[in-house]
Amino acid sequence: MPEPIGWPDDPDSPPLLPASSLMVEDGLELLVPIEEDAGEMFSTVDENREYLREWLPWLDDVNSVDDELAMIRRIRDVKNFNWVYLIRRYGQFVGVVSLNWVDWDNRSFGLGYWVSESSSGRGIITKSCRRVIEHCFVDLKLHRAVIEVAVENHPSRAVAERLGLRLEGISKDREWLYDRFTDSVMFAITAPEWNVQSGGN
Ligand SMILES: CC(C)(COP(=O)(O)OP(=O)(O)OC[C@H]1O[C@@H](n2cnc3c(N)ncnc32)[C@H](O)[C@@H]1OP(=O)(O)O)[C@@H](O)C(=O)NCCC(=O)NCCS
Repeated sequence: MPEPIGWPDDPDSPPLLPASSLMVEDGLELLVPIEEDAGEMFSTVDENREYLREWLPWLDDVNSVDDELAMIRRIRDVKNFNWVYLIRRYGQFVGVVSLNWVDWDNRSFGLGYWVSESSSGRGIITKSCRRVIEHCFVDLKLHRAVIEVAVENHPSRAVAERLGLRLEGISKDREWLYDRFTDSVMFAITAPEWNVQSGGN
């Protein structure tokens, strides 16, 4: 496992690190990938290649099980902080929610996600993101959650809106997507705002 990288309020407490697994609900679980997951991850990505390629920039870099294996090894190196959770629905790998970055000094973090086409439309991503945001706010004491979405990616914008994040602005040419720049919408919510909308729970 990587070295701990977060610090709690009390400097005498042990350092914090995101959990390696999170239960979302019965039959829906988030798990940090292990090397044995590489084959299943690759076949799901490969089956959904065209669907995912519309909005995700990394599809051309994943062409074999070895590429997934390299990714799993890379994300376990804490210096390249990118905390990935595999979403397993009744054991089957159906997508990913990731902490793409954490700015520990300012206690903010950015979320990324995708779900296989056949598992979309069931609320899996909204529920999984909600669980990760709660974990970050409650257990890791982070303060601000950010989701950046291509302006025209309406299903992804709907996820941020369903979660109650606030639209903060548009970033021009935010992401290079194979052959063009795309503008992004930045959505965010702070921990106090999250507590209010979840009724203080
Ligand atoms: C963006 C993406 C993850 C959204 O997936 P999704 O399945 O639409 O999102 P959710 O898991 O939140 O599901 C929402 C849908 O489930 C329905 N739903 C069912 N039960 C639900 C529940 N309990 N809670 C929320 N939504 C629920 C919603 O009504 C909605 O249906 P609709 O699309 O017909 O309106 C998916 O389109 C995707 O992977 N796209 C390609 C990659 C990508 O763009 N990633 C994001 C980059 S920023």
